[in-house]
Amino acid sequence: MRNDDGTGVKAILTEISDVVGYHKEGHRVIPVEGRLVYRGIEIKDLVEGFKREGRHGFEETVYLLMFGELPCSKELEMFSKSLYEQRRLPSGFVQHIILPFPSADIMNKLQSNVTVLYRKDPNPDDISVGNVIKQCISLIAKFPTIIARAYQAKRYNLDGKSLFIHEPKEGLTTAETFLYMLREDRSYTPLEAEILDLMLVIHADHSGGNNSTFTTHCVTSTDTDTYSAFAAAIGALKGPKHGGANAKVMAMMDEIKKNVRDWENDGQVIDYLSKIVRKERGDGSGLIYGMGHAVYTKSDPRAVLLKEKARELASVNGRSAEFNLYNKVAELTPEVFRKVKGLDKIIAPNVDFFSGFVYDNLGFPKEIYTPLFAMSRVAGWSAHRIEELISGKKIIRPASIYVGPENKKYLPLAERRS
Ligand code: MLT
Repeated sequence: MRNDDGTGVKAILTEISDVVGYHKEGHRVIPVEGRLVYRGIEIKDLVEGFKREGRHGFEETVYLLMFGELPCSKELEMFSKSLYEQRRLPSGFVQHIILPFPSADIMNKLQSNVTVLYRKDPNPDDISVGNVIKQCISLIAKFPTIIARAYQAKRYNLDGKSLFIHEPKEGLTTAETFLYMLREDRSYTPLEAEILDLMLVIHADHSGGNNSTFTTHCVTSTDTDTYSAFAAAIGALKGPKHGGANAKVMAMMDEIKKNVRDWENDGQVIDYLSKIVRKERGDGSGLIYGMGHAVYTKSDPRAVLLKEKARELASVNGRSAEFNLYNKVAELTPEVFRKVKGLDKIIAPNVDFFSGFVYDNLGFPKEIYTPLFAMSRVAGWSAHRIEELISGKKIIRPASIYVGPENKKYLPLAERRS
């Protein structure tokens, strides 16, 4: 699904969000500063807007993505209340579905729990827009609960740790609710909750072409149920080339931290990065994880927003030296590609570059990094599912070009090579 120049093939028309990373002049791709626009509003303006008014922003972002407009204060209050009312899982769900079947991988557990929720819905196959909106809001509300419980089941059953279950509390935002349910002592600082809220806002949608959202469009276009569509999207997001990328960044940075003696020395950092690019170190792929993006060129606007918060959090946690090393890796990567590969490419850190570091600073276990992405992106999947149901007329069914062998003879079983 890429053109010869590396840009994506245009496959979806959407009114939900726009991702801009380059302009095209004829056949030339012109790099520009990245822009992410939710329903016409620049992500930076959205974030600055709710921060200026001293609020968390995820709830109004979900509303904006799903319904196309920012909610008025009454609508926001009702929407937030409705999320709270739907956070609890059906009776017996934790005891009979989550706890007895722990999974080391929380994404797989989230996926299977979503399909179990199909069985608990009295009207699961009704794909009228009203019913699908109801189902989507219920799933957006329940993802934090499922993820917290699935992680607790894993800790208890597989890691031998003690089990605690905190019920969601009224009046808390999604970010606060998650911290409250995840942490044994239910505590969190305002800065921690603010950063998690920012993470949820900036991950909530990324237009129609990212793999899990495209999957949502494809699967929805078959007229299947909401649970099947989101289970497919979760499967797509799990992959390390999509939502699982921040864990790759963390593994790479852990290796760099161990092996580069002086983190402030450009030469030492360049040497190690060069070894990674030459496939002598790292995971052998030659990739510097978290650098570059399928659409963004000069900058990923989400990484720009996150970087400042990562700096603040790192300073509070006494981890500024590590933050500076992240920054150095980001700054020196283009030079390394130039030296080792002769590639004169503009390459900037993407959101995954800082997100693992932020989650680590929040004390989150690695197992929930990608599930947190799902907890946010389910908002975008919801908006895109509704859009596909309203405006998609036909099943998405691209053509393929056959490039395999022709005119082969059918061989009887006895004549085939064993
Ligand atoms: C995303 O947010 O989905 C990722 O940046 C990947 C993408 O847009 O393709």
